[in-house]
Amino acid sequence: MNEISNETRFLHAVEMGLGAWQWGDRVIWGYKPGESDKGIREAFDMSLSMGVRFIDTAEVYGSGRSERLLGQFLKETEQPALVATKFFPMPWRLTKGSVLRALRGSLERLGLEPVDLYQVHWPSPLMSPETVMEGMAICVKEGLTRTVGVSNFGESRMLRAYSTLAQQGIPLASNQVPYSLLNRDVEKNGLLARCKELGIRLIAYSPLAQGLLTGKYSIENPPPGLRGSTYASLLRKLPPVIKALQEIAQNHSKSVSQAALNWVICKGALPIPGAKNAAQAEENAGGAGWRMSDDEIALLDKVTDTIR
Ligand SMILES: NC(=O)c1ccc[n+]([C@@H]2O[C@H](COP(=O)([O-])OP(=O)(O)OC[C@H]3O[C@@H](n4cnc5c(N)ncnc54)[C@H](OP(=O)(O)O)[C@@H]3O)[C@@H](O)[C@H]2O)c1
Repeated sequence: MNEISNETRFLHAVEMGLGAWQWGDRVIWGYKPGESDKGIREAFDMSLSMGVRFIDTAEVYGSGRSERLLGQFLKETEQPALVATKFFPMPWRLTKGSVLRALRGSLERLGLEPVDLYQVHWPSPLMSPETVMEGMAICVKEGLTRTVGVSNFGESRMLRAYSTLAQQGIPLASNQVPYSLLNRDVEKNGLLARCKELGIRLIAYSPLAQGLLTGKYSIENPPPGLRGSTYASLLRKLPPVIKALQEIAQNHSKSVSQAALNWVICKGALPIPGAKNAAQAEENAGGAGWRMSDDEIALLDKVTDTIR
C-alpha cells in the first residue's frame, strides 16, 4: 500500500459517514419541503452526537437544498463536522474555471470555507479527468477545499485523475462508488484493491442498497416510488442475504442494517448511509465501532457472490 498522505489521513480515520442526498430530493426520496425538515435535522443532530461527523452532499441534491439545509444545521451546532460535496459536470461546464465557480456556489450555500473534500460527481464525456483535476487543483491552491476526490470513476479514469493531481503535488483522496452486499463490483473489478494500493479512500455509497439491506423491504413489501420497480429482481434474491445478516446481527446484539454496514467497513471502505430521521441515523451509527468475524464475512461473501 502507498503511504497515506498527511492531507488525506483524516479520511482514513473516518469509519462511518452520513449521506445527505435524501435532504431535498423529491424524485427518489420523497422529500417534502417543511414536512421532512424536522426529521432531517434530527438525523443530523443524532449522527453528530453518535460520533458520525463526515457528511456527504452534492450541489445537485435537491438542486442545492441539501447543501443549504446542511449549511443551516452547521451554523446552529457547536459540534465539529467534516463536509464533502461534489461538482457536477453539467454539459455547459467545459473549463477548469467552471470547477472553481461551482465550488464557490457550494461554499456559499454551505456557509463554509473550505470544505474538507471536493469530489467530481460523475465522469463526463465533455470534460476530461485532466481538465477537471486541473480545476480541482486550483480549488486546493485557493484554499477552497482541503482535499480532492472523484466519484463513479473506473480504474483508468481514476488513475488519470491521480496522475494529474500528483503532477501538482496533490494526493487523490477518495473515489466514491456504489458498494454494498448487493453490489460487489468494486471487489470483482479490482477497484477496491487499487484504491488501497494507492492510499485512496473508497467511499461506499448506497451501502444499504437504498434500504433493501435494512430488512424492512421484501417482494411483498417493496420500497415506495421508483425504488420498487428498480429493485424488483433484487428483492427476489434478498431472503437468504437477510437471513445471514440476521444470524450475524444476533451474534453481536446488532441489527440487520448495522451488520450490512459493518461488512462494508470490514472490507476497508467508508460507508455513507443516507438517513431521514433520528432513528435511522442512530441505528446506522451503530454499524461502526465493532467487527464481525472472518467467518461471518466469509458467510456473507458466499451468500452474495452471484447476486447483482
Ligand atoms: N456519488 C454518487 O453518485 C452517489 C449516488 C448515490 C448516493 N450517494 C451518496 O450516498 C449516500 C447513501 O446512499 P443512498 O442514499 O443511495 O442509499 P443507502 O444509504 O443505501 O439507503 C438510504 C435509505 O435507506 C433507508 N434507511 C437508511 N437507514 C435506515 C435504517 N437504519 N433503517 C431503515 N431504513 C433505513 C432510508 O430510506 P427509506 O426510509 O425511504 O427506505 C434511506 O433514505 C447518499 O445520501 C449520497 O450522499 C452518492
